[in-house]
Amino acid sequence: MVRAPAPTGWSTLHRHHIGVDVGGTLIKYAAVDMADGELTTPVLQRPTPVPATPDALAEQLVLIVQELAASPQAPHPEASVGVALPAIIRHGVARSAANIDDAWIGLDVHRFLTERLGRTVHVLNDADAAGLAELRYGAGRGTTGTVLVITLGTGIGSALFVDGKLVPNVELGHLELGGVDAEVRASAVAREREGLDWPDYAERLQQYFAHLEFLFSPDLIVVGGGISARHEDFLPRLHLDTLVVPAELRNAAGIIGAARHAYLAVPPASA
Ligand code: BGC
Repeated sequence: MVRAPAPTGWSTLHRHHIGVDVGGTLIKYAAVDMADGELTTPVLQRPTPVPATPDALAEQLVLIVQELAASPQAPHPEASVGVALPAIIRHGVARSAANIDDAWIGLDVHRFLTERLGRTVHVLNDADAAGLAELRYGAGRGTTGTVLVITLGTGIGSALFVDGKLVPNVELGHLELGGVDAEVRASAVAREREGLDWPDYAERLQQYFAHLEFLFSPDLIVVGGGISARHEDFLPRLHLDTLVVPAELRNAAGIIGAARHAYLAVPPASA
């Protein structure tokens, strides 16, 4: 593939970052060129350790960084690493743990992983990562106003942007819907678990998105998660005032967003 030349002002240290997306079953990772959000390695993956404790995951991350460091497209050895976790992350500290071990809760993940990897690691919530990627390089690029990125997977992840700026950790999958958390009724896994056909599933999403629309008056809703590949089966069945579009970056969104988070954490002046 022929790549556009780098814009001036990019240093090798600043331009490429490793992005890692930790899910309940798989850890996905790649090196990312922040100039255009393109992956410079294939999306690689390995199983999430069981149980997914901080120690077990740190071991995998060390191997991941070694693996990518050995590739011809390796980012600069001092470039920070971005890691997306299914957890609330407040100033680097985990405040919840969804499908990973509870030992994460209360841990200063930023400091812990930085020590274990011997290079700076920046962490964020997985849906916030997917949102950062979609807003910069995908379905939400260039959109101002209020944007919600909703990921439908094992749970429901959410990211809120106001004029392109992330409001972290909004956790809208835990809004109550019919007496339970919305993600219990309307996640992709809920659809499979209950054997819902597309019209029935769309009805659940209609109820959930209508509620989001009422609460936030968004200008755009971007729908991500693996199920967004089947968007034609359910998005046309929704009736909302808000424009609802499928995510564009598919299974790489979390990786790209994690790398972008690492990139944004480095002041451009150091480039
Ligand atoms: C968690 C979120 C996470 C989402 C997607 C939810 O259950 O509470 O933190 O972003 O699942 O993994």
